[in-house]
Amino acid sequence: MTELFDGYRSNYRDVVQSSIDFSGLPHSFFMRAKADLLRELIARRLGPVKPAMLDVGCGVGSFHPLLHGMVGRLCGIDVSSASIAQARADNRDVDYRAFDGSNFPFDDSAFDLVTAICVMHHVAPAEWAHFISEMRRVVRPGGLICVIEHNPLNPLTRLAVSRCEFDRDAVLLGAGTTRKLMAAAGFREIGARYFLLLPWEVKSARRVEGALGNVPLGAQYAAFGTA
Ligand SMILES: C[S@@+](CC[C@H](N)C(=O)[O-])C[C@H]1O[C@@H](n2cnc3c(N)ncnc32)[C@H](O)[C@@H]1O
Repeated sequence: MTELFDGYRSNYRDVVQSSIDFSGLPHSFFMRAKADLLRELIARRLGPVKPAMLDVGCGVGSFHPLLHGMVGRLCGIDVSSASIAQARADNRDVDYRAFDGSNFPFDDSAFDLVTAICVMHHVAPAEWAHFISEMRRVVRPGGLICVIEHNPLNPLTRLAVSRCEFDRDAVLLGAGTTRKLMAAAGFREIGARYFLLLPWEVKSARRVEGALGNVPLGAQYAAFGTA
């Protein structure tokens, strides 16, 4: 079956960039902020051992070069086989698989860390609980999941989503909804942090943003829970 994102194999980054051009920031700024957040979360929740990680809805794998040195084994899955083909061509050291979007193609407890970055707003709301339960199934007891999503409370996020041609099907979910889904799936120590509030990479801006992580202002949020 042809998936929406099959059509964006070669221009995914350009389409994202054109939806955020108004911010004056490159897509790489947003990717680095996510990598920094994940690095800090891994250190705090999983310790010094590099985790085996599954990235669900990995698309063309543009996030994966930023994970070098941060994780051990890295797998990526996506419903778009064209995106997976591109990801494979760009990141030879990552294990990529296309799948049907329902059951993740891995055994129970196969990973220390499972992420879904800007994916759930493309999943039908009726499937959200199953999606999170699959994250729960493939992460080991004591392992961590992290869902990064657009913050629907941020007006600039809504503007970017409205300008992004592949977000026409998007149903944004707030951090409260994501946390409730995690609780229902049996996760504990559930938390959320808002980020991408200030458009600068300098340390002082990152510190201010860190201090405001509980305030629902950032363009995106990360919700996380321990299995
Ligand atoms: C906006 S892209 C994000 C890609 C990547 N995570 C990133 O941040 O660059 C959303 C991705 O989710 C994938 N997707 C949509 N529904 C999915 C599902 N049920 N399971 C896995 N991936 C899905 C799409 O094919 C697409 O590649």
